[in-house]
Amino acid sequence: MAELVIRGGKKLKGAIEVGGGKNSVLKGIAASLLFAGPIRISNIPLIEDVRRMTELLEGLGAGVTENSRILKIDPGALKGHKLDNNIAKSIRASIVLAGPLLARERRAVFPHPGGDVIGKRPIDLFLEGLEAMGAKIRANKNGYEARAERLKGADFTFRTISVTGTETLMMSAVLAKGRTILRNAAMEPEVEHLASFLNKCGARIKGAGTSTIEIAGRAGRLLNKRGTFVTLPDRIDAGGFLILGAALGRNIKVNKCVPGHMHALLQLFKAASIPYKIGQDWISVSRPRTIYATDVKTQEYPGFATDLQPLFAVLMTQAKGQSLIFETVHDGRLNYIEELNRMGAKIFPADPHRILVSGPTFLHGREIQSPDIRAGMAFIIAALVAKGESRIKNIYQIDRGYEKIEERLTKLGADIRRI
Ligand code: EPU
Repeated sequence: MAELVIRGGKKLKGAIEVGGGKNSVLKGIAASLLFAGPIRISNIPLIEDVRRMTELLEGLGAGVTENSRILKIDPGALKGHKLDNNIAKSIRASIVLAGPLLARERRAVFPHPGGDVIGKRPIDLFLEGLEAMGAKIRANKNGYEARAERLKGADFTFRTISVTGTETLMMSAVLAKGRTILRNAAMEPEVEHLASFLNKCGARIKGAGTSTIEIAGRAGRLLNKRGTFVTLPDRIDAGGFLILGAALGRNIKVNKCVPGHMHALLQLFKAASIPYKIGQDWISVSRPRTIYATDVKTQEYPGFATDLQPLFAVLMTQAKGQSLIFETVHDGRLNYIEELNRMGAKIFPADPHRILVSGPTFLHGREIQSPDIRAGMAFIIAALVAKGESRIKNIYQIDRGYEKIEERLTKLGADIRRI
């Protein structure tokens, strides 16, 4: 099994480019199920989760080709309604296919999705939403079977804000009969971006990017006359490199990002006295002499992203004072603290959702297992900060979300290799 070997303690400098966002492209891929003919998706990141998602579509009979980071998906010959159990269980985003597949084929068979081990991650909201739209859903030992002659519009309020739940029901509603209103919807930029692409292709969605989305359903499948789904730049990728720059940078410039999506992180940088500059599509950051401990609470967008929380905690091990980190989105996302403490961090659990990080602490290299994508990236940052050698195992988790991470970080001067 491959692992990353990192020798820490080096200052980093230079420019790094942000790729297409995992949580944007996976929804673009799912949207192909709403179309009569081929669609193109550009700026795709070459990561494991994208491969798994396209394998699921191929398994349903869609044609998929990839060339120069452009995916062409042709759902024209699609005939199946069953998602491959093993693959669908390996990524959370597989559940996003269930709604559009049901809307298209009138039937969808799917397992309980897997993905990161960061909490319970139920799918009750998806099931409730699809049932509100008229689906009949039966659970069995392998998962679920949903049927609907034709989905119908519904007025649905999410009990908890869910990103993939919002995207799934929004897409399902595009082919439903009548009007759907989604209340307490997720407001992430990826939701708005998906809606705007679908609208260019004939969907009628209003309000995406706000907490109430209204969708007027249509009878026929969408037609892709107006171009390509251009994957949004990855704001979590961008945030990770900025946090790395704050910990170790002598002017690290993060290119091809959308600064407007990074407000919550930059506000924390201000509070922690971390200097940064913003351009049209770049942000640069350097490590200050003293980083000040700053409290953080994760929230749905536009709040501070849960996906950056473990990385920010690593930064706080280098800050002066005590910071309180409050994870409110996922219930198992403080799963990395023992490993960091073994590296020398002083992190104390306060309750199941809150930790106290005391700093600054001196980190030393170790062998570490990556439990999920984002904790994996947090460990890379910790290992780069630490003195001595670290070995990060289970890096499939990191490859799920980060493309060729060692090559990109080497360009900044990091001592990191894959063996
Ligand atoms: N929830 C329910 N019932 C549901 C669905 C969600 O209770 O049916 C709960 C979850 O357990 C969680 C909360 O709602 O406590 C919010 O979860 P959400 O559904 O928003 O998460 P998600 O849509 O499954 C996406 C991203 C995650 C990211 C979250 C929050 C994708 C494929 N995944 O997950 O990304 O953390 O939104 O922003 O879009 C990652 O990239 O590392 C990652 C985990």
